[in-house]
Amino acid sequence: MPILSSSLRNDFPVLKRSKIIYLDNACMTLRPKQVIEAINWYYKTNCACAGRSFHKQSEELNERVAKARETIKGFFKASKSHEIVFTKNTTEGINTVAFGFNLRRGDLVVTSDREHNSNLIPWLVLKKRGIKHIAVPSTENFEFDLEAMHEAMSKKVKIVSVVHISNIDGYELPIKEIIKLSHDFGAKVLIDGAQSAGHIPLNLKKLDADFFAASSHKACGPIIGCLLIKEELLEQVKPLMYGGGTVANATLNSFELLAKHERFEAGLQDYASIIGFGEACKYLNKIGMEKIEQHDRTLTKKLMKRLVDINGVTIVGVNDWRKCTSIVSFNIEGFSPHDVALMLDEAHSIAVRSGKHCAHAWFNKYCKSGCVRASTFLYNQMDEINILVEEVSKIAELLEK
Ligand SMILES: Cc1ncc(COP(=O)(O)O)c(C=O)c1O
Repeated sequence: MPILSSSLRNDFPVLKRSKIIYLDNACMTLRPKQVIEAINWYYKTNCACAGRSFHKQSEELNERVAKARETIKGFFKASKSHEIVFTKNTTEGINTVAFGFNLRRGDLVVTSDREHNSNLIPWLVLKKRGIKHIAVPSTENFEFDLEAMHEAMSKKVKIVSVVHISNIDGYELPIKEIIKLSHDFGAKVLIDGAQSAGHIPLNLKKLDADFFAASSHKACGPIIGCLLIKEELLEQVKPLMYGGGTVANATLNSFELLAKHERFEAGLQDYASIIGFGEACKYLNKIGMEKIEQHDRTLTKKLMKRLVDINGVTIVGVNDWRKCTSIVSFNIEGFSPHDVALMLDEAHSIAVRSGKHCAHAWFNKYCKSGCVRASTFLYNQMDEINILVEEVSKIAELLEK
């Protein structure tokens, strides 16, 4: 499979400045100059407030914000731009649904057993209010078990909330089947798209997901996120916050919430990041999401296949490259993940992540030590994967000596 040209690296100022091999993309990706310039446009030339004032600066900003929302709609292939609610991040999107979707005592929420804390802790908090939570156990190969999900389903399940691509090992859950099964039981589906947005082409209209939460900072953008809410559900979710910008009218005793996305975006917004988010989507679209997916999958396959061959190295999680993308997690016998991460950084400025990756529940069940996680994106090249493999081999050999 072809991979993207290394000339793309010229777009990323961080890569020009340092010799870093950046493989911590699941945490945060680098930003291209196009996105940085879009953010700078706001601070250098505008600095107004959207949707409130009537002067030229504000009008100009209104247009840029609306355009960004439209671009983001196109990127996710959502039905309407007013289904897009800007949030701080994926975490805020998930919390908005968890605490706003009118769950009642006795209602059930179903997740996988490999959720990020952001898609676990809110449900555990709700447990204290009488809402029940079932985490579907994985198969022995750590894959999502549709049969086990079927057993967990009943009319009491109101929300199925699952990660799309896992930040543990890059495993892609069978999301279409999960959505179908959830809808068969009348449950709504919330997708944690933190690791899928920017890595695979998305078509939310086709997927028929009810809610989809994502972070722009994991897809070439600034630190901001969005929650996509199906149009007919917009008014069924209570906002997390109330205030300026969310109401059509108010008296000292009452208020009338706006319809659509505006009811959720309380107070002045991070306009620079909204514009940067739109620019990041434009940037990714221009390269082509199919090509980006192929690129990531090619690197993932190579990395997993080569790591498996090193004595003392074990792949953590699903170890089938056909089912994973952008992330390879591993351990080296005799070394703690943090030590490996430090050694890789020291040897070759290889930036990886180590630990339990905010998925404590999964690691506490299956892999108490945590692991080393290498995660790729569109600017990584095969020679970087080769250097990582060489350095991992050298560390693994240390124990043999
Ligand atoms: C799968 C998954 N879900 C949720 C999150 C939380 O994302 P954020 O910190 O941007 O809210 C992450 C972050 O790494 C993640 O990987």
